[in-house]
Amino acid sequence: MIAYIEDIAGSEGQLVTIRGWLHNRRSSGKIHFLTVRDGSGFMQCVMSKQAVGDELFTPADHLTQESAVIVHGTVRADSRAPGGYELDVTGLEIVSEAQNYPITPKEHGVDFLMDRRHLWIRAPRQQAILRIRHEVIDAVRDYFNSRRFILADAPIFTPAACEGTTTLFPVQYFEDNIAFLTQSGQLYNEANAMALGRVYCFGPTFRAEKSKTRRHLTEFWMVEPEVAYATIDDVMHLAEGLVVSVVARVLEKRQQELKILERDQSKLARVQGPFPRISYDDAVETLKKKGLVFEWGGDFGAPDETALSEEHDQPIFVHGFPSAIKAFYMKPHPGRPEVSLSVDLLAPEGYGEIIGGGQRVDDLELLVQRIKAHDLPQEAFEWYLDLRRFGSVPHGGFGMGIERVVTWICGIDHLREAIPYPRMIYRMYP
Ligand code: 4AD
Ligand code: MG
Repeated sequence: MIAYIEDIAGSEGQLVTIRGWLHNRRSSGKIHFLTVRDGSGFMQCVMSKQAVGDELFTPADHLTQESAVIVHGTVRADSRAPGGYELDVTGLEIVSEAQNYPITPKEHGVDFLMDRRHLWIRAPRQQAILRIRHEVIDAVRDYFNSRRFILADAPIFTPAACEGTTTLFPVQYFEDNIAFLTQSGQLYNEANAMALGRVYCFGPTFRAEKSKTRRHLTEFWMVEPEVAYATIDDVMHLAEGLVVSVVARVLEKRQQELKILERDQSKLARVQGPFPRISYDDAVETLKKKGLVFEWGGDFGAPDETALSEEHDQPIFVHGFPSAIKAFYMKPHPGRPEVSLSVDLLAPEGYGEIIGGGQRVDDLELLVQRIKAHDLPQEAFEWYLDLRRFGSVPHGGFGMGIERVVTWICGIDHLREAIPYPRMIYRMYP
């Protein structure tokens, strides 16, 4: 019977076949301890000379790391084994031998590993992170689908900027045109929300960020809900529910992975809401009190975000940013136009912004004015202006960066490990 390691519990005493790769081998004369991985997990397979005979035992003497193997054996419960089970080997087939696998159990530098990212993802920690990423994405989809949001995806080739012209990637679009890789699906989401009410899009987004930080990728995945008739309070409520449910889901389903990552789970368990809601004005006062140099009107840098979030053990909302530092579509606060109905969610433990969103300008004249003030080409936005011409309503939404969330939940240092193949200013390989 072909089995996957993750399903092995319950197969005690049965003869099974595991198809995978050799992760590690220790030998002590008459016994080989083979750690085999099959993509679903790792398992120790015990091969004794006595049980399999010389003709099987000897070829395994020099079996190298990452050689492909098919192992047959009997499942035995062993409380000392990481998954609770071991395999007593009865047969071994060598499918292909790996020569000099470059990533050995010794320490390697990050550049060395990044150059071999296509192999590095086989390592237990990297697998754990990618499984948690999968769980996060699955939980996000469940959250919106179970609330009857409609998934309506936005295009990746776009004619204009959404999040500012300085971080656009141009692409030659046939002979005569230039397209830009999307920075956010939001503008299309707004149209979709006017058609379908509650929508979300989920896809890759691109920012030509020159910043070389551990929080910035040039290609990242963003989930963006948008809701007709939503206020900024509704937006915060939706974002809070999403984050609480994603964290709970990972805690419930990915214990083993969190353990491999040595994540302090008590910190995640506190993420239950309600999340504190702090105005930008109050946040500025807090920063000043803490001795940071910060003037009203500025945008938060990573140290500011850390200083604000260290007061709390839950994520915190900061709302009401100055209009001048936010995107053209942010609705001004009624009666206080220098402030916008915008909101960011900052993760705890210094992980910084994971969500950005707010309420959108729903007035046609103001939106035209904004497009001009931001030096954006109005022709490219005529379709977007139509949404204010034909049944404009208050509405809002947000974007959540998947890699930022995965990095925080995994408790790792850098976004580059939160995506299979990171794209950064100095990295496009492999
Ligand atoms: O705050 P941002 O720029 O907001 C928007 O794009 C809105 N149009 C979203 C919306 O309202 N529909 O980006 C949203 C989130 C950030 O909070 C962050 O999590 C992530 O996207 N993000 C990045 N993640 C990785 N690398 C980058 N360079 C990122 N830039 C933003
Ligand atoms: Mg933002």
